[in-house]
Amino acid sequence: MKFPFQAIVASENETETIAKSFAAGLVGGEVVVLSGELGAGKTFFVKKALTSFGITWVNSPSFAIVNEYKNSFKFYHIDFYRLKSIKELFDIGFNDYLNDTEAIVFIEWGNLFPEVLPHKRIEINFKMKSENGREILITKHA
Ligand SMILES: Nc1ncnc2c1ncn2[C@@H]1O[C@H](COP(=O)(O)OP(=O)(O)OP(=O)(O)O)[C@@H](O)[C@H]1O
Ligand SMILES: [Mg+2]
Repeated sequence: MKFPFQAIVASENETETIAKSFAAGLVGGEVVVLSGELGAGKTFFVKKALTSFGITWVNSPSFAIVNEYKNSFKFYHIDFYRLKSIKELFDIGFNDYLNDTEAIVFIEWGNLFPEVLPHKRIEINFKMKSENGREILITKHA
């Protein structure tokens, strides 16, 4: 996958194809920030991306704030949605996740606390176009 990447998808299957193609390019150490309204498909995307690594039991981290998975890579799947303060984030070890250079970190609703996001990151933005239609924009930031 080349960045920036942009697509309009009409179905879950098309999002899944993009998620798998995105996952194929991961090498470890990435921070991936997913933004878009409620139900836009952030968790869906992470779920399908991690399926590429044999992790099929992903669910939304919104209540736990962070879920951790491990096989060929370590994955941290974080959701800022229910976070009340940045302190809460550092209490659960956010800095350790970011400093883990071999891990891949996914952050849903990262836009809620932009000040804690590293500059070097991949942004995935979802826009709902219709019930099953989405616009997906992926950009890489140095
Ligand atoms: N083209 C599509 N791509 C992704 N998801 C789709 C698509 N069409 C329909 N959906 C559905 O939209 C929903 C997306 O839910 P998901 O939990 O991934 O959203 P979210 O962005 O993580 O929301 P939240 O902000 O609550 O965390 C799922 O039920 C999924 O099946
Ligand atoms: Mg979600």
